[in-house]
Amino acid sequence: METSVVKIDNVSFKYEGQEEYALRNVSLQIKDGEWLAIVGHNGSGKSTLAKLLNGLQYPNEGRIEIGGIYLTEETVWDTRRLIGMVFQNPDNQFVGTTVKDDVAFGLENNGVPREVMVERVRTSLQKVKMEQFLDQEPHHLSGGQKQRVAIASVIALRPKIIVLDEATSMLDPRGREEVLRTIRELKDDNDMTVISITHDLEEAAKADRIIVMNRGELYREGVPEEIFQMDEELVKLGLDIPFPVKMSKMLKEKGIPINKHYLTEEELVEQLWTSHSSK
Ligand SMILES: Nc1ncnc2c1ncn2[C@@H]1O[C@H](COP(=O)(O)OP(=O)(O)OP(=O)(O)O)[C@@H](O)[C@H]1O
Ligand SMILES: [Mg+2]
Repeated sequence: METSVVKIDNVSFKYEGQEEYALRNVSLQIKDGEWLAIVGHNGSGKSTLAKLLNGLQYPNEGRIEIGGIYLTEETVWDTRRLIGMVFQNPDNQFVGTTVKDDVAFGLENNGVPREVMVERVRTSLQKVKMEQFLDQEPHHLSGGQKQRVAIASVIALRPKIIVLDEATSMLDPRGREEVLRTIRELKDDNDMTVISITHDLEEAAKADRIIVMNRGELYREGVPEEIFQMDEELVKLGLDIPFPVKMSKMLKEKGIPINKHYLTEEELVEQLWTSHSSK
């Protein structure tokens, strides 16, 4: 089961005309069906890594494999079929004049038959709760609505891997929760791999694994429990410790019996509830 769907092998990359490398000796394997969160302060190289995965840029050194295909200028169209990208700014992602056309565009390009296409457009928009906007013009939508449509366009293609680069940052907490739940369902139903670049460490806490980037390097990788044990070190890297982790720590310091740092509010509440009612 444990096959790697993405292999990044010793990749370094420098933007043209720049002195500094944006990525340095990054090696990373992403397992099939995994939810991987990538965190790191501004400019640490997260988006650059996403661009390399999509073949928008190519490594100066090292190599990338997507679904067993060595990513080069010759194979980029094959690898792009496997990987769907949703970026931070939805305005740069629209191609259609209506929401419907926009979601249909990628399907049309992939030669999906018309009946299938109509159905896929509808179900994808339904999944992000935008089906009532089918005939609207994308530029009339709010930022959050645009981002939902961008996500629908990608999930309509049923990619094997989806990369979300701060893709839910325009949504309010409830909208964000909803979209992430949808992606989680899609992941489970279609055996999709999710790579989520996020500033939201509470979201990252729900991932299978977290990568911490720092100054173009892969600084640390581990399951959420391991990463949040870094504690103040995360703050030094410019990251915010999630509220439930902070709260667990504070309670423990006050002598309230907490046996670990809880990663989600639900877990923390559950622990407090059980220890309180057992007295
Ligand atoms: N098009 C570009 N041309 C030149 N330098 C760039 C370009 N895009 C990014 N950089 C530089 O590359 C480094 C990594 O940037 P990148 O956008 O990958 O960071 P990031 O981790 O995604 O940051 P953020 O959290 O702000 O999105 C930064 O030093 C940045 O200034
Ligand atoms: Mg970025």
